[in-house]
Amino acid sequence: MELLDYAVKADNIVKRFSEQLAVNELSFTVKERECYGLLGPNGAGKTTTLRLVHCFYPLTSGEISVLGLDVKKDCRSIKEFIGVVPQENNLDEMLTVIENLLVYARYFNIPKKTARERAEELLAFVQLDERRDSRIRELSAGMKRRLVIARALINSPRIIILDEPTTGLDPQARHLTWQRLRALKRTGVTMLLTTHYMEEATQLCDRVAIMDKGKTLLEGNPMHLVKERVGKEVLEVQLDNEEDGKLLPMIEDWSIPYEAAGDKVYLFCDDGKEYIQALWEKGYHHLLQRPATLEDLFLKLTGRGLRE
Ligand SMILES: Nc1ncnc2c1ncn2[C@@H]1O[C@H](COP(=O)(O)OP(=O)(O)OP(=O)(O)O)[C@@H](O)[C@H]1O
Ligand SMILES: [Mg+2]
Repeated sequence: MELLDYAVKADNIVKRFSEQLAVNELSFTVKERECYGLLGPNGAGKTTTLRLVHCFYPLTSGEISVLGLDVKKDCRSIKEFIGVVPQENNLDEMLTVIENLLVYARYFNIPKKTARERAEELLAFVQLDERRDSRIRELSAGMKRRLVIARALINSPRIIILDEPTTGLDPQARHLTWQRLRALKRTGVTMLLTTHYMEEATQLCDRVAIMDKGKTLLEGNPMHLVKERVGKEVLEVQLDNEEDGKLLPMIEDWSIPYEAAGDKVYLFCDDGKEYIQALWEKGYHHLLQRPATLEDLFLKLTGRGLRE
């Protein structure tokens, strides 16, 4: 199939729900075969953005093109090329595992025999083949999530949209899901995903957009962004007493970026070791030296306060 410059192109998109401006003049492009992540605190507009891309909501204004097709005119064709993993599992509880896939295949007019073969293949892919005849209510949360991912692949989509694919999963299920998503990416599928797990974004995404209040704050490759905006290392100092007045003046003298948050102070530096001895001698013994992560950048950009 012809390779386009981009799989998804959103241009100045706006979505307003009466008083609420959920997406506010957002622009981004996702290249074919790329994994692009939308990150942001609760209510940032991630789900709404994904829903605009897969024609679930009409745009208030702006343009979205999906594989060269316009969401305002070509929804039917777009849906054929897209697989969707919604934020909430919406499996049919009355049906079995395999029936959920087969019924879904009917929406795409996939012939019965092909659908059955494809369903069996997908169940093996997400390691649910042994549960093919279980009822949905008998599945664990992780199994349900994997089934929703399998369902999204029934029409062999060129683009898969994943809204928090691993929320609520245990570490085993999460790592297995990452493995499966990387395998899918190697087959050439383009991915647009949202997640609250910064490690997930780092593991899967070629590029991420960190957004807040319906707008992009920063976009780029996760590791490059961390290096550029946070640095190499973080030294965490845990205070025994939140009222401690001595630490901050000492850090000010070092002229390195830091952040004080409750009983923690974070120092952003190239080599945490340089400061450990001085801190230790002043009685700060709860120290953690670690590499800087996307979570540091996320918190730096979007703050530590709760949303909503
Ligand atoms: N159908 C709707 N009707 C009215 N307001 C909505 C609707 N859907 C979303 N909103 C509002 O739009 C804003 C963005 O919501 P959205 O669900 O896109 O956020 P999100 O980034 O996906 O958040 P989360 O991380 O919690 O899933 C929020 O203020 C939300 O209350
Ligand atoms: Mg959401």
